[in-house]
Amino acid sequence: MRLIAKKESIYDHKTPLFVFGVFEGAPLPAEIKRIDSSLNGLISEKLKIFDAELDKAVFITSPKKSFLAVGLGKKAEFDLEKLRKASASALKHAREANYREFSTNLHEIKVKGRNLKDTTIAVSEGFLLASYNFTKFKTVDKDKVKSVAKAVFLSKNASQVQRYIDEAVVICESTNFARDLVNEPPCSLVPAKLAQIAAKVARENKLRIRVFGKEELKKMGMNALLAVGQGSANEPKLIVIEANPNAKERIALVGKGITFDSGGLNLKPTRWISEMKQDMAGAASVLAVVSAVKKLNIKKHVIGVIPTAENSVGSNSYRPDDIIKSFSGKNIEIINTDAEGRLILADALAYAETLKPDKIIDIATLTGASIVVLGYFGSCVCGNDPSLIKQLIDAGNYCYERVWELPMWEEHREMMKSDIADVRNVGKGKGFEAGVITGAAFLENFVEKRHWAHIDIGATAFKDEETHYFTKGGTGVGVRLLINFLMRKK
Ligand code: BES
Ligand code: ZN
Ligand code: ZN
Repeated sequence: MRLIAKKESIYDHKTPLFVFGVFEGAPLPAEIKRIDSSLNGLISEKLKIFDAELDKAVFITSPKKSFLAVGLGKKAEFDLEKLRKASASALKHAREANYREFSTNLHEIKVKGRNLKDTTIAVSEGFLLASYNFTKFKTVDKDKVKSVAKAVFLSKNASQVQRYIDEAVVICESTNFARDLVNEPPCSLVPAKLAQIAAKVARENKLRIRVFGKEELKKMGMNALLAVGQGSANEPKLIVIEANPNAKERIALVGKGITFDSGGLNLKPTRWISEMKQDMAGAASVLAVVSAVKKLNIKKHVIGVIPTAENSVGSNSYRPDDIIKSFSGKNIEIINTDAEGRLILADALAYAETLKPDKIIDIATLTGASIVVLGYFGSCVCGNDPSLIKQLIDAGNYCYERVWELPMWEEHREMMKSDIADVRNVGKGKGFEAGVITGAAFLENFVEKRHWAHIDIGATAFKDEETHYFTKGGTGVGVRLLINFLMRKK
């Protein structure tokens, strides 16, 4: 879908469909009044019975022109997220009604404390994220898939608006790229395939990349990553992909890349095993963010560190009771093979540490416990640097990929100590207490010196149902969050 800004008045502009917003109980928007009178009050008549609730919309058609009025809800409660949702709703209504193109002024709606750039990006996100679909495996009726090819943003400041749109396009294409990776079935997206895709991303964006295979990982002592992958015929890889290696500030992004999480010998029950292709969503978002750094003119050295493996059941699977010497030198006692994400991250974090970044952020579908904490409405964050965490919270609030901090206390750290090795991969107790925090407390052992934050996207990486600008499947969560974080001044 193409988004284009045009400097034309709504009144003179020709379009198959014009999309505008209305607030609950508010009078007809001023810019629509002139058109309304030229249509003898057709629009205002139709809007009398429209309650303007968010997600609702009404078509107003006349021989001359067609309109789609989208509900914005109550003016006092309006914010950027509601604008994203209203835009998504507009896109879906237009698509359903078989429009291939529409024009709009939704980006001109005033949002308290926000400017034209914010609103333009929010509207673009609503359109572009809602228009995503994953159809590559459909062979029947593929031609019946409806799509809108073009949206025109009418504005007095068209050249500015176009610049904002272009930024949003990069952000949304990256998000949709991450969604594609998550949605790809695990028989196809094995670790080697992820590495191939990363190499393609590197080629296309002129990024530096190194991929370490099994033999190199053995030499390096990446035994935790190797252990998780050893039950699968699809061998693990470590992908290191970098943008702007000469920039001053260096940030390492570490993404969990389990291409399928069966649980290993601690096999997941049926209800939990399906959809575990999503377990590489952290890796997907890291790869997508690194791919966008240069396009967005982010002047930071961003290093994506992606450990990737398949957690499978096989005659050589690692076991509960195994003790593994990790890359850091610390010995890990395996309590449960389903707590595998933290193992591959342990090696990747310790490796990232050798690159001496100023900050390390890891992002992972680490726990089901994160669903218990916040429902499906946000991700959990833990770390050792309050200012880094504050920046992530601010970035998340802005783009509505919200993160909420959980504490790590001495008692939590204590839970991760092993009686016979250095650390254990599941906390002492019944194994579920403080699941998110103990996951983070485990990881903390492998990032001794750096400013570090850990984002648990176990609740937010995948949707069972379509909602607003999310489609069913991978959400691409973390992409907009981390891009916003990287683009922030402070
Ligand atoms: N990949 C899962 C976590 C997960 C579950 C992500 C549901 C998304 C949705 C992870 O590897 C896992 O299995 N974690 C265990 C940890 C436990 C064994 C300590 C969990 O959450 O149950
Ligand atoms: Zn697991
Ligand atoms: Zn997992």
